[in-house]
Order: sequence, then C-alpha cells, then structure tokens
Amino acid sequence: APLYVITATFQRAVQKAELTRMANTFLHVANLHWVVIEDARNTSALVRRLLKATGLNYTHLHLETPRVLRMTGSYPRGGIQKNLGLRWLRLTMGEAPPGVVYFADDDNVYSLQLFEEMRSTTMVSVWPVGFIAGRKYESPKINAQGKVCGWVTGFAPNRPFAIDMAGFAINLKLLIRKSEVVFKLRDVKSGYQETNLLSALVSLSDLEPKADNCTKVLVWHTRTERPTLVNEGQRGFSNPEVEV
Ligand code: UGA
Ligand code: MN
Repeated sequence: APLYVITATFQRAVQKAELTRMANTFLHVANLHWVVIEDARNTSALVRRLLKATGLNYTHLHLETPRVLRMTGSYPRGGIQKNLGLRWLRLTMGEAPPGVVYFADDDNVYSLQLFEEMRSTTMVSVWPVGFIAGRKYESPKINAQGKVCGWVTGFAPNRPFAIDMAGFAINLKLLIRKSEVVFKLRDVKSGYQETNLLSALVSLSDLEPKADNCTKVLVWHTRTERPTLVNEGQRGFSNPEVEV
C-alpha cells in the first residue's frame, strides 16, 4: 500500500537541515507521498525549493496556527497542521483508497525498516519509540498471544494509548470511514493527543504490533539542539542572501 506521511514544520534556524534529513530518508522508501504542512501564513520559498529538488512525491500546504490557539499554551504543536493533512487526504483520496498514514515530526530519526513495517497496517499498527518519556525507549506491552495488553512507558502509563505520535500508523480506509476523527486542539492534557485520536478509531485489541512483536526500536524521538547564533547580526558576517 502507498504510504502517506504527514509532517508539520515551522520556520527556524534548523528547518532546512531537518527537512533535508527527512527527505534523504524518504528517498529510500518506495511508494511514499509526503504531505508537508508549513505552520505559516504562506508557503516559503525555502521549503518549496527543497521539496521540488528532492524529486519526491509530495503535497505542499500551509496553515498558520491561530494566535488564540497558540496562546492557550497547552495546544498540541503541529496539531492543526496535521488536521489539515487529514482533511487533504479525505478530500482527494476518494472513497476506499488503499494506503497507510503516518505522522512524522520533522526532528525525529526514522529507519527505513520502519516504513516497511507500517505498510501492511490494516487498522492501526504500533511499535516502540526511542528516547521518549525519560527512557531509552517506550513500547507497547505484548502478551503471550501477541496482542497489545498495555504500555511500557515512563509517563502516564494509564493512558488508554500511552504511545507517542511516532509510534503508530493508521490505515487510510479507516480514516476515511471515520471521517469525523481529527486531533483535538483545545484542552488537551499533555501526552493525551495520541490517546484522544486513537481511542476514536480503535480499541486496544485492534492494534497490530510491528517491529518483531515490538522488540525493535526503528524510530527515535530525537530533538535538535537550537544552534547558538550569538555572532549573527554583526557587520560583515553572514550574507543574508545565503539560504541556510
Ligand atoms: C512531542 C510529540 O512527539 C509531537 O508529536 C507533539 O506534536 C508534541 O510533543 C506536542 O504535543 O506539542 P516534541 O518534540 O515536543 O514532540 O514536538 P516538536 O517536534 O517540537 O513539534 C512537533 C511537530 O510540530 C514538528 O514537526 C514541528 O516542526 C511542528 N511544529 C512545532 C509546528 O508546526 N509549529 C510549531 O510552532 C512547533
Ligand atoms: Mn520533536
């Protein structure tokens, strides 16, 4: 099945570096369509040029997070952009299209194997995620029958779906059938956006464990250090014409 990877992204010093690393990964993955949504009032020339130069299949959208939402402080970052990605899929993909949807933040690290694991998702598939919840990794808990029976995590383990955004993929037909399901944007308790979405789509017994029964870490919740640019702005230094 084709993979639809939804990525929210926003302008900052490392954006081009992050998107370059992602693109370099996706270039090794067959049958992948990248849906990139900029958190901005307009699409940027930087992202436009970058996407075009990759040769990937992509759709480039933009939607600025409204200030009233940003001001709530507790809103899920990239949430409104991911919802636009979902809407785009539902509007363009027709009635029962084959496909698997994955939400890929722009700063994580993705193994190539991950994409082949998720490709066979019939409802929702799950797997471990590295460097999250104060642990080397968190993971779905798998019972002797090979079914998900709970969660191994360092953060709020009693969440119905105690899993990070990077740890699951959803069959596109399911998303189209349940066309009202989107990310909740307001009053989302920290760590609950995944649970809110997944509990509207499936129950625990529907989950399909991947990555060798959830024994392999194939994606890492890395976070990029903000470069210190203390010497910027001095006369005669960086040429503003150079895209970084
Ligand atoms: C964690 C989760 O892994 C994210 O999926 C979740 O959206 C986020 O927390 C949250 O709940 O706010 P974290 O590393 O803290 O991840 O979040 P970021 O990587 O900073 O942001 C997630 C995505 O949203 C990224 O792709 C980022 O580029 C995008 N983003 C972030 C925006 O589009 N606009 C922003 O203002 C900030
Ligand atoms: Mn992140």
